[in-house]
Amino acid sequence: MDTPINVFSNWVRSGKDEGMEKNHSSSVKDMIAFATKELKNFSFIDAGCGNGWVVRDIIKEPSCASAIGVDGSADMIKKAKGLDDIGSYYCTDLMAWEPKQKVDLVHSMEVFYYFEKPDLLIEHIYKNWIEPGGRLIMGIDFYTENIPSHSWPKDCAISIMQLFSEKEWAGFFKSAGFGEVKSWRHGKKDEWGGTLIVTGKVK
Ligand SMILES: C[S@@+](CC[C@H](N)C(=O)[O-])C[C@H]1O[C@@H](n2cnc3c(N)ncnc32)[C@H](O)[C@@H]1O
Repeated sequence: MDTPINVFSNWVRSGKDEGMEKNHSSSVKDMIAFATKELKNFSFIDAGCGNGWVVRDIIKEPSCASAIGVDGSADMIKKAKGLDDIGSYYCTDLMAWEPKQKVDLVHSMEVFYYFEKPDLLIEHIYKNWIEPGGRLIMGIDFYTENIPSHSWPKDCAISIMQLFSEKEWAGFFKSAGFGEVKSWRHGKKDEWGGTLIVTGKVK
């Protein structure tokens, strides 16, 4: 068993990080389309950006004014910086960081369950990262209702992976103060529950 940061740093060294763009892009497209449909000139953070592929994509949108990627893996951030000189990237634990200026949209794909207390991370993002009226949108494939995902901590030998239900994740958003909380599943198929997407707006 190893920490999530060490496991994902090893993924960069073996090139496995590139598979995440392929595997996550359909869910991320759904999340970004929902979250940006009414936005003009928005600022953006990808929380747990990995190699930065979402930052590189969104910065091309004419309505995106600025984009930041934050990740705890030095290898991921080094790769992201090497591929992009427009977006800004920071290597830090998400719980220990806050942007100099709050932003309109925070996005995160397959990251929040790697935290001991994801409810505290959601509260930190609510208070310190997002402008009033701005949005957090999160996607995860590891959750209680998605039974095939339950073997991942063992399969990937990752020390922290927290399993919560859709209702519990939506509850974390509501307890942090988010309004207009919505959740849905993207890409549900047979046994596979799909990506659980949860979003809410800062009041
Ligand atoms: C499954 S990857 C997802 C990466 C990216 N969102 C994507 O879809 O390609 C999870 C990412 O979360 C990062 N991560 C895990 N725990 C973290 C923490 N405490 N602080 C910052 N980043 C963290 C890992 O380094 C890794 O890059």
